[in-house]
Formats: sequence, C-alpha cells, structure tokens
Amino acid sequence: MAVAVILLSVVFPFLLWKLISRPRSPSPLKSVAGPEKEHWFKGNYHRIFQDGLKYNLQLVRKYGGVIKIHALLGKEQLYVSDPLALHYIVVKEQHIYTETDMFIAGNKLIFGEGLISTLGEQHRKQRKMLNPVFSLANMRELLPVIQPIAFKMRSVLLSQLPTDGNSQEVDVLPWMSRGTLEYISQAGLGYTFNALEPTRSHSFTEAIKSLAPAALKLLLLRPFVPLAVRNLSVYWRNKLVDWSPVQPLRDLRRIVEIMDKSSRKIFFEKKAELENPTTETIDNEAIKSEGNLGDRMKGKDIMTILLKANASSDSTERLTEAELLGQMNTVIFAGFETSTIAISRLLYILASERTVQARIRNELRRAKLDYAASRDIPLDGSWNDIELPYDVLMSLPYLDAVVRETLRVYPPTSLLSRTARETTTLPLQYPILSATTGEKVNSVVVPEGTTVIISILAANHNKTVWGEDASEWRPERWLSDSGERVRLNQDREQLDGTFGDGAEGSAGATPGNRGGVKYPGVYASMMTFLGGGRACIGFKFAEMEIKQIITTLISSMHFSLPSLRDEMVIRKRYTGR
Ligand code: HEM
Repeated sequence: MAVAVILLSVVFPFLLWKLISRPRSPSPLKSVAGPEKEHWFKGNYHRIFQDGLKYNLQLVRKYGGVIKIHALLGKEQLYVSDPLALHYIVVKEQHIYTETDMFIAGNKLIFGEGLISTLGEQHRKQRKMLNPVFSLANMRELLPVIQPIAFKMRSVLLSQLPTDGNSQEVDVLPWMSRGTLEYISQAGLGYTFNALEPTRSHSFTEAIKSLAPAALKLLLLRPFVPLAVRNLSVYWRNKLVDWSPVQPLRDLRRIVEIMDKSSRKIFFEKKAELENPTTETIDNEAIKSEGNLGDRMKGKDIMTILLKANASSDSTERLTEAELLGQMNTVIFAGFETSTIAISRLLYILASERTVQARIRNELRRAKLDYAASRDIPLDGSWNDIELPYDVLMSLPYLDAVVRETLRVYPPTSLLSRTARETTTLPLQYPILSATTGEKVNSVVVPEGTTVIISILAANHNKTVWGEDASEWRPERWLSDSGERVRLNQDREQLDGTFGDGAEGSAGATPGNRGGVKYPGVYASMMTFLGGGRACIGFKFAEMEIKQIITTLISSMHFSLPSLRDEMVIRKRYTGR
C-alpha cells in the first residue's frame, strides 16, 4: 500500500512532468549566456533562491541583464534585471508574460478567485473594482482608525520592560508579525483575531502564520498542481491528499479549510450588516460574532468599501460572491508576511544604526510639536501620543528616505516569475554578449512557454541605474542637499500600469534615474512593489503601516541589537519626555 501511495502521489507525477517538460533540442535559448547547470534536479535554482544577494549579483555582473539559467530538472529559463526588458515584461507586453500556470493554479486552490489567482479579463475587472478601494483618500481615512493597533503594539512591548526605565532584552519579532496580522485583519476585514492578546489564540491566526512555511515545504510538488487540477476531479484530488504520505500536504489542506471557514463567516456577517443598515444595534448585535469590529471601524475597512462599491456598480463590472470571498484571504496573505518582513528589517536597521534612529525620533518630535501648536492641541501628556494626520506623517523627509532605502535594498519579495505565452522579442537597455557569436546583442528572442524570472533584487541593486553605491544602504540618496525629500513623479497614486514619464527633473537628478534610465516600478522607480497591471495594489497601505508602526514604537522606546547575534531586542525604555 505504502509503495502504491508513493507511486501515486510523488513518483508518477514526477515522471510524467519530466516526460512532458523534456527540453527541446537544440536549445532555443542557446545564444543567451549563463551559468552551467550545477545540479541534475535543482539546476541553478538552489544557488539563486538560497545563496542570496551575493550570488544573484555575481550572476548579473558576469552575464548582464538577461541570463539563461537552469530551473528544476534543468529546464532553461531567463533571469531578467535589465530595465527595458522588465518594462516589456511587466508593462508593455504584460499580456504575453503572464503568471505561471503553477502560480495561478496553486493560488486558486488556496485563496479562491482573488486577484492573485486570476488572469486576463477577469483580473482586469477585479483590479478596476479594487484600485479605488486602495486610493489615497481611503488611506487618509484609515490611518486614524488603525492607530490604536500601533499603540497596542507599543503597550505590549512596554509591558515587558522594567518600569524603572532600564533596558531589557525582548524578542520583538513575534510581536511585529502579530501586529501586522492585526493591521491587515482590522483594516482589511474590519475584524480582529486578537493577535496582540498574549493569552489568546485564534485558529485563523495560527493558520495564516503556518501557510507560507507549509507551502514552502511543498515547493517541489508545486509544478504538478496544474496537471492535477486539469486532470483530476476535486474528489480524486482530495483522495490523493488523504493517501499521500506527505504531511505538509495534509497540513496545507487543513490550513485552507480554516481560512476558508473564517472568511466565509466574516463575509456573510458583513453582507448581512450592509443589507440591514437600519436595524442597527439590536439585530446587528445578533449577527455580530466575537471579533467583528462593527462600528469601531466606521465602515472604513477595505472589505466594507469593496462590498459597497461592488453593490453600487454596473452589473457588467460587478464581482461575483466567489470573487469577493477570494479577495479576503488574498489581501490578508499578500499584506501579512511582506509587511512583517519590511517592518522587522527596518527595526533591525534602526537598532544597528542608533544615529539614524535618533534622527527619525527628532524629526518626529519636531513634527508632532509643530502640528500640536498649529492646531492648538493642548500638550497634556507626552509629545509621542500626538497623532499626525496621513499627509504629515507620509511627508516627513528623513523617515521617508529611510523607509524607501530599506525597501529598495531589502525587498521583501525578491524574485517573481512569468511565462511567455507566445514567442516574442525582448529588447534590452544594455546589450549582452551572445553565447554563440560573442557579439553584443540588443535583444533576445523568447520562445513561447519560456519562464522568465523577474529579479527585483538585482534591479534594485543595479549600479548603472542607482549608482556605484547601489548596494549600500544610504537614505541620503533620497534627500536634497538641504534635507528635503526628492520629488518623484513615479510615486503615482494611480495604479494604471503606465511607465514613468521621466519628467522628474534632469536626467540623473533623482535616485534610480541615471542617464534617464529607470525601472517601471510603481514606487520610486524601484521594483519592490513591481509595476504594470499586476503591481502591488496595497503599496500605499504598506507604506502607511510601516511608518505608523515604526514611529509609534521609536517615539516611546530605544532599540538596539541584542547580546546574542541575529536576535532583535529592545534595550531601553525611552524616557525623554
Ligand atoms: C512591504 C510590503 C509589501 C510588498 C513588498 C509587496 C510586494 C508585492 C509584489 C512584488 C507584488 C506582485 C506579485 C506578483 O506579481 O506575483 C504584490 C502584489 C500584491 N500585493 Fe503586495 N506587497 C506588500 C504589501 C501589501 C499589502 C499591505 C497588501 C494589502 C493590503 C498587498 C496586496 C497585494 C495584492 C492583492 C497583490 C496582487 C495584485 C495583483 O495581482 O493584481 N500587498 N505585492
């Protein structure tokens, strides 16, 4: 039986996939140079995905902006960081370079019909409905409503410190993760999973936290997902999972079931509330379950705005119930790990760079005192409890420079992939040397079915675009000589997928725009949030969340590195009142 199970669940699909994906000969990418295959199964993937920045930058230094690499089973793919080539992939020919089948099929099974599981017209329709939900106007309204979460994070950390103002080592990482989960669930769904309550746990919290680790363990099975979805009914897919000896597969199904159950419950409560707005307190209390924030969010959460917009839209543009449900887990998942990584990295940098931390604190104190004075806000308590409105917080020059630079040098998502759905030509900004003739070439033919890896990491570290110090963390690059914020036209509120118009001053005057060449990213020319029609829809939210959490924490505490390497701690409570 065990042998049959292994044959059925692992070996058979493996052989089948190997058969159907046998490389055609001669190699259609033979003229593109790249590293030798380093492992019969892993190709170069283990080096690219595990060996980090150094290996990735070495590759680019040696071969240029388009490189032939070997994926699993030696399949040839392209690794791209050239600015013009990326403009073609994510903007100009985004209809050709779509998400891989593996990505779409896997996401659909996990998240349902949300943004990260759909393609073409369906995705366009969803984006059209969702883009206004993430508008600047909505972010402005959301900021004060979610400020209590940052205060709660602060009080949880302060409660672990001695009251005499002395230092204490505290592992802050789990609290950053709990905090961002609370942010996205309250702001996204108008719901609390009480992730910041030390003694309470919720099955959804545990499920979402274990989703990425479980999916990671199944990385090698992911290529079989489209095959399974195409050829097996739900019944047989479930049976395969039941029989499979692969525990993470069964874990993943359990996680998906928990997430699905919670989102359905929240969704139908929300719908019922919106459909019965007049039966306010008594009836609504009856449908509200524990965790439902109801009036506290004042209808400003992303899901409520989306449901209202959907209900009042033209029937041809309206999203189905399945599509609305699909957005819930999608938004939570997309906005949780990424923001946790960004905030944790930033806190780590601030703990290492104490002068940077002090400079942000000073900038913040000045801004809060000025704001209080301009609004006649009495200073009863300490300056750090004054809440800055969205526009003031977002335009603090030094804080902004530090956040941008951190997101550029350490992008939380570093590599993405796309598949070319038809044969096309990829033009290059910077020529590469042909592997067959040794001559410079300005474009590469990409055969139908080729997978391209978008290297956000290499793009954000490209010396030709960012300067010789591209890999240095230097926030000053985002500031003028007088310490003002460098203005960039590319900080577009509109997520329309257009390429930057290059109008921000003379060539080379702004970061990421050397000699007029820049990347098509939605955020400050960097590729951290991608660009084009599938750029991160939540980047304004992420920026706001990072700034709100960091400023709330560092206005009340000093952070420094721990005595043990690679651990993060709070050293000392801030007493500068
Ligand atoms: C620092 C934090 C974040 C980073 C670095 C980030 C980065 C990205 C990137 C690179 C993509 C493109 C993925 C792909 O094409 O495969 C993306 C897509 C997406 N992001 Fe973010 N993200 C962040 C935070 C957020 C937040 C807070 C939300 C929600 C509130 C969010 C929602 C989404 C969604 C829904 C998509 C899919 C868009 C689509 O396919 O149309 N992200 N994000």
